Amino acid sequence: MANNNVIPMNMPQVRRPDFGLENNFTKYYADGNVFLTQLLNSLHVVFPEGEKLFIRAVKNYADEITDPQLKARVKGFIGQETQHMAQHERIWDTLESQGVKAREYDAWYAKNAYETVEGAIEKLVGPEMYKRLQLSVTCALEHYTATLAEVAIDPEINAMEGFDEKMKALLMWHAAEEIEHKSVAFDVMQQVDGSQLTKNIGMVVGTWALLWYGAVGTVKFLAEDKDIKLSDIPGSIAEKAPRLAKVVAAMVPKILQYFRPDFHPDQMNNDQLAIDYFNANQKFFEKKAG
Ligand SMILES: [Fe+2]
Ligand SMILES: [Fe+2]
Repeated sequence: MANNNVIPMNMPQVRRPDFGLENNFTKYYADGNVFLTQLLNSLHVVFPEGEKLFIRAVKNYADEITDPQLKARVKGFIGQETQHMAQHERIWDTLESQGVKAREYDAWYAKNAYETVEGAIEKLVGPEMYKRLQLSVTCALEHYTATLAEVAIDPEINAMEGFDEKMKALLMWHAAEEIEHKSVAFDVMQQVDGSQLTKNIGMVVGTWALLWYGAVGTVKFLAEDKDIKLSDIPGSIAEKAPRLAKVVAAMVPKILQYFRPDFHPDQMNNDQLAIDYFNANQKFFEKKAG
């Protein structure tokens, strides 16, 4: 498959940052905004379970990878996603103490998405095709996370203006690593299944899953928030609508590029954003994972 304008790929580095977040961030850490905070709280739950899927999907094919460089990149990818899961889950206790039922949502979401829905798909298409679909959904969601990362980290968009600094540090680190490993799962998929149909089905299913489970968590957390009145919510959405519209408008054309037959994640020109971030934030990563 043609890879036009490919930027040299990075080898994902596993880092174990400490942002000092536990019991140490304000409840409405997203610029004091209720809606944006509960949306991000939903992602603090959705991301770790999704990352478990990504690791499973890539591990299914780990033995078939012969290229030593790709093998090493897969190891780095798994190490980074494992750290992302751990770092998001580390703040669940604090979220719970703030009245956000993160574990209750996680239990429902994990069962619904990864047992009920995945189980039904496996029954429908059989185990081999199911593994390929798991990988194609992973690649699609990796394109989402790298694109969201690019927009979130871009100083010109300044999407996290006014955020609690420690929470911003967690989200910026995750964003930069998503850019760093953006092409690993895709390169595994290209070795396993070059079908455009499989790739595009993954994007459709991945889009549905991200929007649906992201939205259900947001609505649940807003509805259960005892520190606000329901009538506060529309104003809270309206306050951040221009910023969210800017983020979505920046993301949509980049997401749609995924459907191009010659698409490769390394064509997305965002590496420098991650490099600049790592260079400026070494203080968080002095202790490297072994
Ligand atoms: Fe991640
Ligand atoms: Fe990722």
